[in-house]
Amino acid sequence: MMSTPVALAYLAASVLFIVGIRLISSPKSARRGNLIAAAGMLAAFIATLPLLHGPGGGAVPGMNWLLIAAGIGVGLGLGAYGAYSVKMTAMPQMVALFNGLGGGAAALVAAMEFRHAEGRVLFATAMVFAGIIGAVSFSGSVIAFLKLEGKLEKPVTYPAQQIVNAALLLCIGALGAFLALSSHGIGLFVVLGALALVLGVLMVLPIGGADMPVVISLLNSFTGLAVAADGFAISNVAMIIAGTLVGSSGTLLTLFMCKAMNRPVTNVLFGAFGKTVANGEATQCVLGTVKPIQADEAGLVLSVAQQVVIVPGYGLAVAQAQHVIRELADELVRRGVEVSYAIHPVAGRMPGHMNVLLAEANVPYEQLVEMEAINPQMERADVCLVIGANDVVNPAAHEDPSSPIHGMPIIEAEKARTVIVLKRSMGKGFAGIENYLFYRDNCRMLFGDAKASLQALVAAVKAA
Ligand code: TAP
Repeated sequence: MMSTPVALAYLAASVLFIVGIRLISSPKSARRGNLIAAAGMLAAFIATLPLLHGPGGGAVPGMNWLLIAAGIGVGLGLGAYGAYSVKMTAMPQMVALFNGLGGGAAALVAAMEFRHAEGRVLFATAMVFAGIIGAVSFSGSVIAFLKLEGKLEKPVTYPAQQIVNAALLLCIGALGAFLALSSHGIGLFVVLGALALVLGVLMVLPIGGADMPVVISLLNSFTGLAVAADGFAISNVAMIIAGTLVGSSGTLLTLFMCKAMNRPVTNVLFGAFGKTVANGEATQCVLGTVKPIQADEAGLVLSVAQQVVIVPGYGLAVAQAQHVIRELADELVRRGVEVSYAIHPVAGRMPGHMNVLLAEANVPYEQLVEMEAINPQMERADVCLVIGANDVVNPAAHEDPSSPIHGMPIIEAEKARTVIVLKRSMGKGFAGIENYLFYRDNCRMLFGDAKASLQALVAAVKAA
């Protein structure tokens, strides 16, 4: 039975989680939100310690303080090392790994608790549920981590893949139902966990590396649900609330990402987007010619502009050019130019990728404008500077019903008086299709690595 102080501490922790998540929704308050949510976690952690004592005041049978202290020490050490040493571009991998560990821990708790499930069908059902999805989340996240690390570059596909997965899911469902009803047999529970681990691997293997952020977000929601089920079984309110929060926010994030890409979740999980459109020749319009520009001329165009909109994309992250872009924007602002950054919700390769990148260079938050807000202003922009972005500014999304990205909301860069695109070549973006923008009359291409091009632009603007 939970004492009142513990219950109150859990309540406080839950409020801190919710406030933290609320604040994370804006780049301005995200740092504070993160700290507040971390404070909530600390409160929940401290409140859990008294629960390790049995009703008589002594330790819970089998409890080993030394082991717990060692676990905390290792966890704190690895967590702090990971957080301090991870590169911004490797953030999705780290999230995948941490999420996987959460799922694995939830599955282990379920296995331990299942031993006490005899005759309690609801309890056993919750543990079976937590065991299955916790294990799927663990192994799926490990594969997602390996893919993002570049260790498993090619999607693994084989004939009848979906049938194999469906058959495995069916076996897991049948065994899970048997265990929930019979509620005994830890040996079979372990077999169930092993099958779920295999399912997690088989589910994620065929999905392309670039879709991993969506997959991780989905697995994250799985972990949340597994933790909530554990909390339900062991009557831990904090676990129920935190798990439900993670489950619902992970689901929402998955749906938002898919909406911003104009793809159903099923297409991400079963469609292998990159594969189907890699050879996509969605070129229904007459493309026209590409018009290159040199940095000194582009610098001149920028220096006489009154309003400049910058559209950052994945290439900015690859080139690590966030500090130079800030330098260019500062120089333009100094000359009286109005500068804003247009942020597309799925620019880059992870949620909030551009926000994180620009925050690293201390770009003022007020200069960041969401896609819906910037599009109506685009006609007034003298120059739209597209840096390493491709799909998120492709007018094919509006103009070509046969395009794989048709219907995807885009930043309407083509409406600016002049568009200058910084990229290395005519290489395609994530969707693997031709970009109609690059052939427009008002579009000029500044070829080269984004960082080098931006450095040349800074020099050109200063000299103008
Ligand atoms: P992309 O369409 O992927 O295009 C990036 C462009 O950057 C490429 O065309 C590439 O052209 C250029 N580039 C790469 N390295 C560069 C460098 N060093 N210097 C200059 N340019 C460089 O990027 P986007 O417009 O940001 O769109 C994101 C895409 O990812 C969307 O299709 C989205 O649906 C997808 N996606 C996003 C997410 C999230 S959550 N953000 C998740 C999954 C998928 P060159 O090779 O010619 O340089």
